Amino acid sequence: MRVGRATVMELGTERGRKVMIRRREEIAKMRKAGLVVAEMLERICAKAKPGVTTAKLDRIARDVIEQRGAVSNFLGYRGYPAVICASPNDVIVHGIPGRTMLEEGDILSIDCGAIVEGYHGDAARTVAVGSVSKDAQRLMDTTRQALDAGIARMLAGVNLYEVGRAVQKVAEKAGFSVVREYVGHAIGTEMHEDPQVPNYWPGRPGPKLAPGMAFAIEPMVNAGGAETELLDDGWTVVTADGSLSAHFEDTVVVTEGAPEILTRVA
Ligand code: MF3
Ligand code: CO
Repeated sequence: MRVGRATVMELGTERGRKVMIRRREEIAKMRKAGLVVAEMLERICAKAKPGVTTAKLDRIARDVIEQRGAVSNFLGYRGYPAVICASPNDVIVHGIPGRTMLEEGDILSIDCGAIVEGYHGDAARTVAVGSVSKDAQRLMDTTRQALDAGIARMLAGVNLYEVGRAVQKVAEKAGFSVVREYVGHAIGTEMHEDPQVPNYWPGRPGPKLAPGMAFAIEPMVNAGGAETELLDDGWTVVTADGSLSAHFEDTVVVTEGAPEILTRVA
């Protein structure tokens, strides 16, 4: 999601907004949605080969949604025209699927979501199309490690912005930069709930995590600079310097113990 008015001052719950605590039955529904999203990602990633169009990948996602009796949370979101986002190479996020054919050596970020019984799941993966450069592979591996480092901080009693601090540390140590204009978010009965989750340290700790809080953590990491540009279609976000970008996202709930990743098959 895009940061409100593009300023970090908008982050957080300091205007009296509380982070929702989900009951056990609500988490169970989010888990169902998460498993549909995991299945969508698995089926799409397996088909992301040279010669395949991103429209075809969208079709696969639609089929899974329909087979599982779920509803798409992307389609129609502020007029968004598809069920997935397909973001190749220098596209950071929100690429619209279409006639673009995948080519050997591309990296492709796939973002998708689903609603089951009124509860949302949201997740993304970046995959290699055929064999890719060592640098591209390192960018993907680092972004996934950054996501995992962020998730590992999602413990009761830890402050929310520690998640972004952990993400940023992994990305920057590898020499990459973290996108700031797009961030993670709380999730539940809406896809985008407050508070936002920056993928960097915003200078203050933010709200304290408690069991039942659920977030979509979604680092976007650029091989070059952090700056973004929005294309004329109003959706596609690219790196300003044309460098590659990777995106990994999971929907995660804070528990009494280890964080529970709802969009991965255990
Ligand atoms: N994971 C993406 C986000 O939080 C979902 C975008 S939905 C879309 O920004 F419909 F806007 F594409
Ligand atoms: Co998201």
